[in-house]
Amino acid sequence: MKRLLAGVLVVLLLAIGLTSAGFAEEEKVLNMYFSAAENWGALLAEKFEEYADCRVDWIRMSSAETYARLKAESDNPRGDVWVGGTLDPHTVAADEGLTEAYQPSNWDEQIVAVRDPVGDLRVLGMYSGVLGFGVNVPLLEAEGIAIPQSWEDLLDPSLKGYVGMANPNTSGTALTTVGTLVQVFGEDEAFEYMTKLHQNIGVYTKSGAAPGVLVGRGELGVCIIFLHDVIKHAEWGYPVTPIVPEEGTGFEIGGLNLIAGAPHPELAKLFIDWVLSAEVQELMSSVKSYQLPTNMNAIVPDVAQKIFDDAKDRLIAYDFTYVGENALRWMERWTAEVYSQSR
Ligand code: F6P
Repeated sequence: MKRLLAGVLVVLLLAIGLTSAGFAEEEKVLNMYFSAAENWGALLAEKFEEYADCRVDWIRMSSAETYARLKAESDNPRGDVWVGGTLDPHTVAADEGLTEAYQPSNWDEQIVAVRDPVGDLRVLGMYSGVLGFGVNVPLLEAEGIAIPQSWEDLLDPSLKGYVGMANPNTSGTALTTVGTLVQVFGEDEAFEYMTKLHQNIGVYTKSGAAPGVLVGRGELGVCIIFLHDVIKHAEWGYPVTPIVPEEGTGFEIGGLNLIAGAPHPELAKLFIDWVLSAEVQELMSSVKSYQLPTNMNAIVPDVAQKIFDDAKDRLIAYDFTYVGENALRWMERWTAEVYSQSR
């Protein structure tokens, strides 16, 4: 009987994973907050699980939404690494001490202009993309509406209810739009412009790429969006065309950050090194994410290069430090002066 009991005990101990030393072996888990395209996040999670022999728990949240989450969790951080999303909310988080500087092992392989956009390794760059319009040309032509070529054209009364964009309180794409308009027109002029644009907006979405799908389905005629998302939606079969606004446009650098107080900092650092490798950056295009990679050894697909080549004469010198310093104030100003207006 005694022997039987001892045997049962051994089986139980093995079943609950206790080692001979009496301690449970801790499972390796990376908690990833992801702010770029969902299918790319899923692919990275799957591949990193194989690479590091760990589990990846992850969630897709828009860029400014993730910043808010980090802030809310700052007394008890849950996330290890924040991957993708526009740089500006990453910069705000870094300035508030919500993230930690880290120099990746493949630093010398990263393109100098994009690897450390706001200095002191506060945010690492992991891709870049151009802001513009996605237009459903057949729909607008059928309605007899001129195809918008400029920011000014988006104010045309014929577009009332046809324009979409995301909300800058959640979306990095929309915050890049605010930062772009301020740098193209000046701050007060940009807010006046957005108040007028508000009258033509059919819907504000939470995420930056969502209005592109509505344009593709013909529920909207035009949206403000990153052009790599328009190209992806066109490859999905939607009748959407990318347009670079005549007055000039901004661009994003996708951010990457180690979260301050991360429960698994070593695994997070391993992830950062891995995701910035040429091999992993080349995976982007397999899920139709056509941003430009930051690793200079990564092969750049023609379609991704073409977006930048077509836009290069209209790109502004987007100032990431300036936008980072003003982002929270502009979000409040947008809510008070633009969003609160009836339409
Ligand atoms: O869909 C991908 C993407 O456009 C990224 O390039 C960008 O960083 C991110 O979405 C921004 O998403 P959101 O506007 O939802 O914060």
